[in-house]
Amino acid sequence: MEKKTFYITTPIYYPSDKLHIGHTYCTVATDAFARYKRLRGYDVMFLTGTDEHGQKIEEKAKQAGVTPQEFVDRIVTGENGILDLWKLMNISNDRFIRTTDDYHVKSIQRIFRKMYDNGDIYKGAYKGKYCTPCESFWTESQLVDGKCPDCGRDVHDAEEEAYFFRLSKYAKPVQELLESGEFLEPASRVNEMINNFIKPGLEDLCVSRTSFSWGVPVDFDEGHVVYVWVDALSNYITALGYLNDKYDDYSKYWPAVHIVGKEIVRFHSIIWPAMLMSMGEPVPKKVYGHGWLIIDGGKVSKSKENKSANVIDPYILADFFGVDALRFFLLRTFPFGSDGNFSNELLISTINTDLANDLGNLVSRTTAMVEKYFGGKLIAEREADAIDDELIALIRGTAENYAREMDAFQPHLALEHIFKLIQRANKYIDETMPWALAKDEAKKARLASVMYNLLEALRVSLIMLLPFMPESCAKAFEQIGAAAEATVWEKAGEYGVLAADVNVHKGETLFPRIDAAKMLEELAKASAKPEAPKAPPVLPDVTIDEFAKCDMRVCKVISCEAVKKSDKLLKFQLDDGSGTPRQILSGIHKFYEPEDLVGKTVVAILNLPPRKMMGQMSNGMLLSAVREVEGKEELHLMILDDSVPAGAQLC
Ligand code: MSP
Repeated sequence: MEKKTFYITTPIYYPSDKLHIGHTYCTVATDAFARYKRLRGYDVMFLTGTDEHGQKIEEKAKQAGVTPQEFVDRIVTGENGILDLWKLMNISNDRFIRTTDDYHVKSIQRIFRKMYDNGDIYKGAYKGKYCTPCESFWTESQLVDGKCPDCGRDVHDAEEEAYFFRLSKYAKPVQELLESGEFLEPASRVNEMINNFIKPGLEDLCVSRTSFSWGVPVDFDEGHVVYVWVDALSNYITALGYLNDKYDDYSKYWPAVHIVGKEIVRFHSIIWPAMLMSMGEPVPKKVYGHGWLIIDGGKVSKSKENKSANVIDPYILADFFGVDALRFFLLRTFPFGSDGNFSNELLISTINTDLANDLGNLVSRTTAMVEKYFGGKLIAEREADAIDDELIALIRGTAENYAREMDAFQPHLALEHIFKLIQRANKYIDETMPWALAKDEAKKARLASVMYNLLEALRVSLIMLLPFMPESCAKAFEQIGAAAEATVWEKAGEYGVLAADVNVHKGETLFPRIDAAKMLEELAKASAKPEAPKAPPVLPDVTIDEFAKCDMRVCKVISCEAVKKSDKLLKFQLDDGSGTPRQILSGIHKFYEPEDLVGKTVVAILNLPPRKMMGQMSNGMLLSAVREVEGKEELHLMILDDSVPAGAQLC
């Protein structure tokens, strides 16, 4: 029989900076769902990737002095980049899409044209409030205290010729979709979408830009690039081969379950279904909007790390705590639909309580006792007792409760069921007192029964923990002597599966207890930022007369162009106030594009001896502020307020 398919996705991440623990949370959760569905026998397609176009990336690349492609390549494929992070975190994605992939770019052009051809995209002029970091236009009524409702930052008036998508046309079917049972979860987000976006009236959506070029070009109108969200959302179908020849999986896997953070639910539950309706394609199966990890009351973000004692770098956290413990903590601690307060203290106490005490102890006590009392190989004789009944009922019944919660995307509740069983098993050790039974040879069969029940409790718990901690579970299966056929989902709700003469050996401690105070101190050290290199020492004194000999003037840039065959030099024609343009060459092309400097007010020293560079004369030197930061030279041209007149002298 053909397996049932299941398609699940993470959002595609902006490679504008390194990812932090908040992004890791979202991917680890999606990975656990994908692994759970595989365990249940589904043919799973798990997609993640990166959202690489847009103005923000273009600007960041410029600041870094590299092309946008070089910039994203470094963050995505570079050392300790996004691909490395997912490998480290043991993410089992089947595919990874980058929106700069050729096949995706071609599909986007076809998708745009498809919606245009059927009359859902038209040309107009856009006026609105634009938030550059979020790459979103907002209406006045959507702003919160005049700021971007997503990130709280300043917005500015913007107007440009643009294409629009007839989102308004889809208000009714989208509302019906939102109200239809389980499309969007948790349910609270449905009201949020309807009250905040549908009820005030859906406006048509601006879907092209002319103000920057780092994007997918609209192939029938030069100068326009496709709005990043149209580019980004479509990744979920282009990665399956929609309108491209790269893959042929669209009809097999679509529609998907999208796991996304709460701030991008709007895009996924309103804009994306409307786009799909316009294309005549099925809408997603589900959108689940999870909460944020927050620190000190705010969303975890890269800029927070300095202010807080908490480490948010997943590389550091995985190194200190282990990948499985980190994965477990993220999904055990925070209810998936709500925000969760992240702290290192909480991470340590969760590991100590659940993993070292409850699970780790159960594994090590059980395996140690089977080794000690039976030399590792359990005897076949058994003697049951009424005291076993409650534990056996939990061994049989937990899988059903666990599955219900996993199917509802509630991993913290699914884990709660597993830990009830684990805690019950630990209590069973105290109740049955195997060390007392071991003293009496006549109680050997009873002792074997107790040990077997503990091993069975462990076996079913570990099957259910597989999606969360795949490596540790594999090691623990080995320690309790569970053969592969005893570790499949179908055996998670059964008792009596392990062989009667199971072979057990106590192995390495899976989750050592953490000394909190020591660990916090070490973490603080590891995450401390290296001290900024000191500025160079002050040079020996000069007299005021010597200083006055330097003729430094304010100049206006009349024109600026790159010097041919030089990747460093820019050639400036400057108005220095004398009435005759002055030519100066400056080696700053790595930091500035010539067209950005025209009209700027800069400072030059004019009475340096003229110098020839690449066959051209330079009559002076532009002043810049230079500093080395993290091993890289940073240069800022002295740019003054435009009100300062050309020829003004610096003194
Ligand atoms: N590129 C868009 C998504 C396009 S999907 C078609 C984007 N990228 S993002 O990198 O900014 O965020 C990706 C995901 O990470 C979002 O779901 C976001 O909610 C999640 N998180 C970012 N910080 C987070 C926390 N502090 N906590 C939990 N999730 C967080 O948006």
